[in-house]
Formats: sequence, C-alpha cells, structure tokens
Amino acid sequence: MGMMDQDILKVLYSEEQIAQRIRDLGAEMYEDLKDKDPLFISVLRGAFIFMADIVRACQVKSDVEFIAVSSYGNAFSTTGAVKITHDIQQDITGRNLVVIEDILDSGNTLHFLKQYFITKGAASVSICTLLDKPSRRAKAIQADYIGFVVPDEFVVGYGLDYCQKYRNLPYIGVLKPEVYQGE
Ligand code: IMP
Ligand code: MG
Repeated sequence: MGMMDQDILKVLYSEEQIAQRIRDLGAEMYEDLKDKDPLFISVLRGAFIFMADIVRACQVKSDVEFIAVSSYGNAFSTTGAVKITHDIQQDITGRNLVVIEDILDSGNTLHFLKQYFITKGAASVSICTLLDKPSRRAKAIQADYIGFVVPDEFVVGYGLDYCQKYRNLPYIGVLKPEVYQGE
C-alpha cells in the first residue's frame, strides 16, 4: 500500500488486467505491422508507460519517437487548440506511423496530431490508445487499436495524471472526489 492508494475511490483495471490486455493488443498489432517497418510515436507525457509496454508486446522491427503537446483547458479536459512543445527528431516521409496515446477523450489532441503527421508526409497514421472515452468525443476520430473503452469518469494511473500526479500508480483508477474538490 503506497501513499497514493488512499486517494483512489475504485480500481478500474488492475496491473494484471492491463498486462494481459497489452499482450493481446501487441499480438494483434504484430500481425498488421510485421511488414510495415513502423515508427511508434508516443505522446508525452501520459503515454510514456504504455509506450514502454506496448512496444515490447509487439515484437516488430521498429523505431520509437516522442512528441509532446500542450493544450489549453483545465486538469479534466482539453480545448481545440493544441501546441507542439517537443517535436519528433526525424523525417517521417513515407513512414507508417503508430501513434501511442494514453486516452482518446475529446479527440482534439489526436485529431490535430494525425493531420500534422499526414502534412509531414507520413504514408499512414494508425492510432493505438490504451483507453477510449467515446462518450466525450468532439472531433471525428477513431483509434485503430484500443486497450479498454472506459465510461465518462476521470481516471488516473499507468501514465495518466491529475495535476501531474498519480502517473506512477501501476493500475488505473478513479480518484476520490475530495482529492479534486475546488476545481
Ligand atoms: P483529448 O485531446 O481531449 O482527446 O484528451 C487527451 C488528453 O487529455 C490525454 O492525453 C490526457 O492527458 C487528458 N485526459 C483526458 N481524459 C483524462 C482522464 O480521464 N484522466 C487523465 N487524463 C485525461
Ligand atoms: Mg494530462
């Protein structure tokens, strides 16, 4: 029991459930990507833990990149404006990209990034998200690979934060309301 567990109302997905789902997802992606020389691009910071696990679950010859974005909004949601704060470091012309994201919520972030990568000349852009919250979608965008479809609740852990905290919880859970009272 760590010091963060007491802030969690309920666990949605345990460490074991996440690991099992990622094993299956990695195998599925392997079949699609084995002849594609894919480039995995992780969206910082939320996807850093998922990235590390999914690239090991999908044993294709591939390389990795990281992109960081900031979007206006509060701790719970983003608005339409997305800004790149750290860009990828290589030419992606003709490459088959797999964008690795923690959660697809409004869709603002991934809608922006998909357009951005297409403009830069990617041959294809697939999206792999650990969590999908389709009930909150504002942009027409879908993921190609989804870990879990989640209800409209704010979740933390396994990379996902509340005010930059709780990313290092090994499971995914819902915070107690008193933790974010006043927001
Ligand atoms: P979108 O641009 O609205 O799709 O939101 C994507 C980003 O919002 C994610 O990368 C997260 O950083 C954040 N986000 C959305 N929902 C949650 C949540 O339930 N918990 C933690 N972060 C979230
Ligand atoms: Mg966040």
